[in-house]
Amino acid sequence: MNATSRKYETLALNLQALIEHNHFAAGYKLPSIRKLSEQWHYSIDTVQKALNLLEDRGYVQPVAKSGYYVQARSTPLANTCTQAPDSIALEPPVNLEVANQIANFLKSSTREGVAPLGVAFPAHELLPIATLRRSYATVNRTRPDLLTLGSHVEPNQPELVQQLQQRFELMGMKLKRDELVITDGCTEALGLALQTVARHNDVVAVESPGYYLLLQMIESLGLRALEIPSSPEHGMSLEALEIAVKQTRIAACIVCPTASNPMGSVMPDTHRKKLLDLAEKYDFPIVEDNVYADLYFERFRPRPLKAGKQGDRVLMCGSFSKSLSPALRIGYVAGGKYAAQVLSKKRILSGSTNPITQVAVAHYLEKGSFERHLRTLRQQFETQVRAMSSLVLKHFPPGTRISEPKGGFVLWVELPGDIDTAALFNRAIARKVAYMPGSVFSASGLYKNCIRLNCGHPVTDDTAVAIAKLGQLFLTQPNHLV
Ligand SMILES: Cc1ncc(COP(=O)(O)O)c(C=O)c1O
Repeated sequence: MNATSRKYETLALNLQALIEHNHFAAGYKLPSIRKLSEQWHYSIDTVQKALNLLEDRGYVQPVAKSGYYVQARSTPLANTCTQAPDSIALEPPVNLEVANQIANFLKSSTREGVAPLGVAFPAHELLPIATLRRSYATVNRTRPDLLTLGSHVEPNQPELVQQLQQRFELMGMKLKRDELVITDGCTEALGLALQTVARHNDVVAVESPGYYLLLQMIESLGLRALEIPSSPEHGMSLEALEIAVKQTRIAACIVCPTASNPMGSVMPDTHRKKLLDLAEKYDFPIVEDNVYADLYFERFRPRPLKAGKQGDRVLMCGSFSKSLSPALRIGYVAGGKYAAQVLSKKRILSGSTNPITQVAVAHYLEKGSFERHLRTLRQQFETQVRAMSSLVLKHFPPGTRISEPKGGFVLWVELPGDIDTAALFNRAIARKVAYMPGSVFSASGLYKNCIRLNCGHPVTDDTAVAIAKLGQLFLTQPNHLV
């Protein structure tokens, strides 16, 4: 395949993804060839070839002197995972042994020349790095005092707290100044929240599959993870949670209600309300992981659990890692009735989060371009996730199922048969492609036949080649259809 042919293939796949996900519904007239060429930065010739290909595949139909129209199609996208495996023992809770394995996966995934489909990072060109640099420069110039602040005196910089309060107010949460603690990313926020509400050997309920570093954190704090089955559609199963809490006292329930990692599920409002009611009924706190909450694909922002009437028992954790830059390490906990204890833990365990960066982020937020940036980012991530989904369905073994993320930028893929994706990881790296093996998203080694793909980078010809190589690797496994 030469470079030009790959270009029009890639464009066709991107457009195809938009059609399959109803962004361009049946009967819709596509933008003109000139417009598509401007929007996608491809030559007129490449756009024409991509449209020809889509016509051959039955996605579009040319109408003389008018343009290209989306064809009605009877075959749905299909192959979507509807339910995570539910063969999960609710009792006894299990301990975790994944740390070294994960460190190895992360290290190999970020090696130079390896397609960045492993670690969930956005491409740096999608982030407002130049604007952030200017904010740092302004703060360095105007606030020399920040360089000499005592770290254990005041963990929070008031400018940033004020910006956060304003943002949360727009989302229906009126948070007092002293309810917020600024942290080193969402990682520290989750750590402080867990250490506040749980003691050694306590059980905490987690989504399954769930974020692997959270599982590691639970283990290293001497806690025990209780895996609650979660679906790519609605997130944590509340029926399973209720069965679990009737059997076992849980110190907390940790959920990522908007754009969960790894499945990109969004918990519907009715489920959010039910979860809050369960927390009230069985008297447990909720740790709400909001790290992807700005990256929802629906028109409206899902309502945070913290905004519910029982919000006082919610410790809401978040950060700017997925939307501004993972290197900032700026996050927060809004601790509700636990806020004073969270603050005290922060003081004891780390003093404060870098005040220069806190004020630089506040400066960036004051400038008022964050919401605009988020709107563009959400659209971009959605396009990337859709394009990646199409590539996976095209190149992976028949019977492969994918999540249909409703936010964020990761895709969960379930392979047919008894493929062990952790065992194949080094062979993928040798082919210069990374992924996160499914088993690390479980405390008990489930999801061996799954992988998570990072869709934080624009889908290019190189991505198509990388996914084709992965597909080839999985297809050549003798057991893939067992
Ligand atoms: C679900 C989830 N929670 C928390 C974090 C940690 O975020 P941060 O980089 O801000 O520490 C991540 C990072 O990938 C994540 O995916």
